[in-house]
Amino acid sequence: MFRIVEKKQLADNIYKLRVEAPRVAHSALPGQFVIVCTDEYGERVPLTIADYDTSDGTVTIVIQAIGMSTRKMCALGEGDALADLAGPLGNPSEFVNIPLDELRRRRYLFVAGGVGTAPVYPQVKWLCEHGVAADVIIGAKTASMLIYTDEMRRVADNLYIATDDGSEGFKGMVTGKVRDLIENEGRHYDECVAIGPMIMMKFVALTTREYGLPTTVSLNALMVDGTGMCGACRVSVGGQTLFTCVDGPEFDGHKVDFDEAMRRQAMYRVQEGEANEKHKCECYGK
Ligand SMILES: Cc1cc2nc3c(=O)[nH]c(=O)nc-3n(C[C@H](O)[C@H](O)[C@H](O)COP(=O)(O)OP(=O)(O)OC[C@H]3O[C@@H](n4cnc5c(N)ncnc54)[C@H](O)[C@@H]3O)c2cc1C
Ligand code: FES
Repeated sequence: MFRIVEKKQLADNIYKLRVEAPRVAHSALPGQFVIVCTDEYGERVPLTIADYDTSDGTVTIVIQAIGMSTRKMCALGEGDALADLAGPLGNPSEFVNIPLDELRRRRYLFVAGGVGTAPVYPQVKWLCEHGVAADVIIGAKTASMLIYTDEMRRVADNLYIATDDGSEGFKGMVTGKVRDLIENEGRHYDECVAIGPMIMMKFVALTTREYGLPTTVSLNALMVDGTGMCGACRVSVGGQTLFTCVDGPEFDGHKVDFDEAMRRQAMYRVQEGEANEKHKCECYGK
């Protein structure tokens, strides 16, 4: 069992859980994920590692409650335990394997959308700890949906906020802010990393392609085992079929077939809706 030592609500339906998982904390690297089961009958839910602390053996996950399993998980409190937390899974971000002198000559731009802001944090933190410059754009529909802004401000060179309704920072989509930085503020970047909803990553990749800016995306394909056995998480990248769990989750954003990935992600919408309704009825006795 994996005890929850801290729970915090970050925004509407978004919760942070800090969980005792010493073995995962000791081997985790930025970009990796875990698969979590709330109870012994629970679904396997893939979640990116949002932080890890080797001193107290904890791993932080940030969950958006959107369906039955994530709602169940977010209903747990401090002192409760998760039945399973397997990981770290997937490959670490590519930059952890690049020699530091080469990395320090690069300038990174991170584009984070919604709950995807949490997975960006350990990457920017790692780069900051290793003396590599990184700017970050965090996008959300409205100011109350922004998460991780204080944490990110501590590790990013420059932090830019973009909200669709203009309630904080730049008014508009993150792609508008990318254009603004490159065209109006004369910024130069060597690498872009985009993490957020699939549709956001698709449009960030289309935008950066115009500027010839190499772009990495972290895909959140449907997963079952997370170890390359079931094929549920397959995606097409540059015409090749790859498995998100063992070949990713990070891929070249200019090569991903996003339209196919989005179709596959929506494959079980009907069953997910039914499970969600059933769960609500069980909880509220309707
Ligand atoms: C590598 C990876 C990292 C992720 N990191 C995070 C994270 O840090 N925080 C976060 O809130 N969410 C993250 N997700 C998405 C999260 O796994 C899904 O939101 C969750 O599984 C939904 O389950 P549900 O039963 O609550 O919702 P459901 O109602 O079952 O599904 C809602 C939507 O979630 C997605 N989904 C459902 N089941 C799965 C599954 N087994 N695998 C992947 N996606 C699924 C589908 O798009 C679906 O339409 C990540 C997914 C992947 C693959
Ligand atoms: S989740 Fe089964 S192969 Fe990736």
